[in-house]
Amino acid sequence: MDKFNIAIDGPAGAGKSTIARLVANTLGFVYVDTGAMYRAVTWNVLRLGLSPDHTAEVIAATERMEIRLAPGENGQQVFVNGQDVTLDIRSAEVTNNVSQIAAIAEVRRNLTVKQKQLAANKGVVMDGRDIGSHVLPNAELKVFLTASVRVRAERRYKEIQDDRTDVTLEQLEAEIAARDRMDESRETAPLVQAPDAVLLDTTSMPIPQVVERILELCRTEV
Ligand code: C5P
Repeated sequence: MDKFNIAIDGPAGAGKSTIARLVANTLGFVYVDTGAMYRAVTWNVLRLGLSPDHTAEVIAATERMEIRLAPGENGQQVFVNGQDVTLDIRSAEVTNNVSQIAAIAEVRRNLTVKQKQLAANKGVVMDGRDIGSHVLPNAELKVFLTASVRVRAERRYKEIQDDRTDVTLEQLEAEIAARDRMDESRETAPLVQAPDAVLLDTTSMPIPQVVERILELCRTEV
């Protein structure tokens, strides 16, 4: 099979990164987590002590920073100006500010250019919110992954218990719903299912089954 690109979009906690990574590993493709890029920008803004409300300063800082993605043992590693921020970008502070930063059109333009470059040679599985609709509109396969907000919150709850013992499932559910609302309602490249994307509801689908379904789509649709 020739190399092709797969775009996987969907709301927070739908299982995109785990599933995209497994699909990429099976096909021998490169996995690109674009959420990590928006998180890296947000981490940098917070580290510099900038307010996410000061759009011009956020844009200038984003233009000056260097983001590098590299394959790691447990998935993708992320570097900002040479510093490994793979774990830092998963903090609650970054998570709770990222959607505001991701709504800035110039930030999106900047990262979209990089994302297109990463996929230019094909053989990429890219996950995010606007990959099928904006970044890779010609991707050979587009998947929109979703699940009920409760199930998505439960998945996140299991993941983060180690570093945020204070958070309740209800709080997480409210945070995820708020992030979805911001991502869906922004003006530039909102979270949306591309018209030609295949919808997979993973509420009661185990991960291996979702991966198998996507691999089947690669065989039948590409
Ligand atoms: O995928 P993850 O939950 O890590 O993404 C973090 C945030 O980055 C999202 O809530 C969204 O605000 C932003 N994002 C985006 N466009 C993408 C990927 C992520 O706006 N392609």
